[in-house]
Amino acid sequence: MRFQGVFITGGAGFIGSHLAERLLDRGFSVICLDNFDDYYDPQIKRENVTQALKAPNYKLVEGDIRDQDLLSRLLAQNPVEVMVHLAARPGVRPSLQVPDLYEKVNIQGTLNVLEMVRQYRVPKFLFGSSSSVYGAGNSFPSRETDRVDTPQSVYAVTKRTGELLAWAYHQLYGMSVGCLRFFTVYGPRQRPEMAIHKFTRLIWEGQEVPVFGDGSSERDYTYIDDIVDGLIAALEADFDFEIFNLGDSQSVPLHRMIALIEQSLSRRAQIKNLAEQPGDVRKTCAHIEKAHQLLGYAPKVPIEKGIPLFVHWFQKRQDV
Ligand SMILES: NC(=O)c1ccc[n+]([C@@H]2O[C@H](COP(=O)([O-])OP(=O)(O)OC[C@H]3O[C@@H](n4cnc5c(N)ncnc54)[C@H](O)[C@@H]3O)[C@@H](O)[C@H]2O)c1
Repeated sequence: MRFQGVFITGGAGFIGSHLAERLLDRGFSVICLDNFDDYYDPQIKRENVTQALKAPNYKLVEGDIRDQDLLSRLLAQNPVEVMVHLAARPGVRPSLQVPDLYEKVNIQGTLNVLEMVRQYRVPKFLFGSSSSVYGAGNSFPSRETDRVDTPQSVYAVTKRTGELLAWAYHQLYGMSVGCLRFFTVYGPRQRPEMAIHKFTRLIWEGQEVPVFGDGSSERDYTYIDDIVDGLIAALEADFDFEIFNLGDSQSVPLHRMIALIEQSLSRRAQIKNLAEQPGDVRKTCAHIEKAHQLLGYAPKVPIEKGIPLFVHWFQKRQDV
């Protein structure tokens, strides 16, 4: 089945804007709904969509996934074969500060989108889930079949709830559903508060780099192009309901990630060690065999290549 009309919620964000551009290049029509929220500077999101806005088959709508009338109007007016739901309040630590907002956007908002998918008989729903659902689980690499009942943050709960809602809608109404568990995504346009981006900026400016814990915590970092490959493959594959890990499947200690940034910037970091943060997990690592088998997913950009690519993008932005 060749899909044509793709609706992306949160399409002006980091991942959504890259996905939109790739889809447009491949001849899809794309509708992007985004409320340009203030989780980080909305101007960055406006820059994210400048390229896509040049394409005739791209439509940008500024609005909220919690606005059911708006969603309904958009789906009534535009043929949509795939809904890619990426709009969310992201971030683990901030979800502990404003848990009710996370509940409203990530759970109520997802339910709203699923209701519209049902009413307008959109055949496929892809959900931007997260490695955080694995919580304190300590079998590595994490598999899609692992238990996910030890969330460490409100954010993780909202993502797992989104998956469960999507499962219920699939069971009840039959649409194809893919839940994609992203493992720390980075690359050009990465959200400015995320570690790679934030550390790069601080090292570049000669400021202290706050390191929570002793630097030994580990993350599976996934380059944005690999995530977009996984999303496109999920969009084109045939399945009923599946959960896929999308990661790089390498666990990188924090101090190694900082060393790679230092190397790329040719500057030394001034590290300031701080206490571990509540909500943070000590390690993430994706088992990606299922995505490989069913989607042909094969990440191409290891961290040693990806950080220099990110730093190159970062430095180019400093020049303008
Ligand atoms: N970046 C990662 O490492 C990562 C990892 C795991 C999961 N995810 C998930 O992937 C998705 C995209 O993440 P991202 O890093 O691109 O974040 P992002 O913040 O850059 O993108 C999310 C977009 O959603 C929009 N949005 C927020 N609330 C909205 C609302 N109520 N209505 C409409 N739009 C709204 C924001 O304005 C933003 O542009 C999110 O669901 C996030 O939870 C991201």
